[in-house]
Amino acid sequence: MEYYKSSLKGKIAIVTGAGRGMGEAIAKKLSIFGAIVIVNDLDESMMNKVVKEIKISNGDALGYRTDVGDYLQVERMVDEVVSKYGSIDILVNNAGILRRRESIEEIDDKEWDLVMKINVKGVFNCSKVVLKYMKKKKSGKIVNVSLRLVEVQANLVALIIPHLKRQYLD
Ligand SMILES: NC(=O)c1ccc[n+]([C@@H]2O[C@H](COP(=O)([O-])OP(=O)(O)OC[C@H]3O[C@@H](n4cnc5c(N)ncnc54)[C@H](O)[C@@H]3O)[C@@H](O)[C@H]2O)c1
Repeated sequence: MEYYKSSLKGKIAIVTGAGRGMGEAIAKKLSIFGAIVIVNDLDESMMNKVVKEIKISNGDALGYRTDVGDYLQVERMVDEVVSKYGSIDILVNNAGILRRRESIEEIDDKEWDLVMKINVKGVFNCSKVVLKYMKKKKSGKIVNVSLRLVEVQANLVALIIPHLKRQYLD
């Protein structure tokens, strides 16, 4: 563990949905490893709390209240991060809202659309915008956090997503 402590020194990392839960834990761990962490969340107070806690632990962090489902907001966040820090090295697509349901009948169409907007389009938006910079730099890492298995009952589609998929650019 000690060995890794400065392995991400100076790297710029965006973690989406980092105001709590797994995103918060990932953001804090990246900070321990030396990364400058962009803490993204929709909930400003949770986001600010995580930024504050990282700074108290001598880390470097910046909060961005951005809806990952909104392409223009994502683009603004990433562009501002790059103009402030010069690059973007790591993206962790963590924001997601899928709640456990026993049956598809319990999900209404509004909830379905929202899940698609955040869990699917959010990953597309963030990845598309950071790729522009990572490709130019010829380096970068994108980590997608997802459900290992989404089970949909009653002979509907079973969608299997890799638990943790790493996409290396080079
Ligand atoms: N908790 C689990 O058991 C579990 C298991 C497998 C996968 N996952 C996946 O891991 C990820 C994190 O799970 P968690 O349990 O920590 O979730 P969580 O609900 O505790 O945290 C998700 C965070 O994302 C934020 N968020 C929601 N919509 C957003 C948006 N549009 N833009 C930016 N931020 C937004 C929320 O405010 C919240 O802080 C999710 O994608 C989830 O699907 C969770």
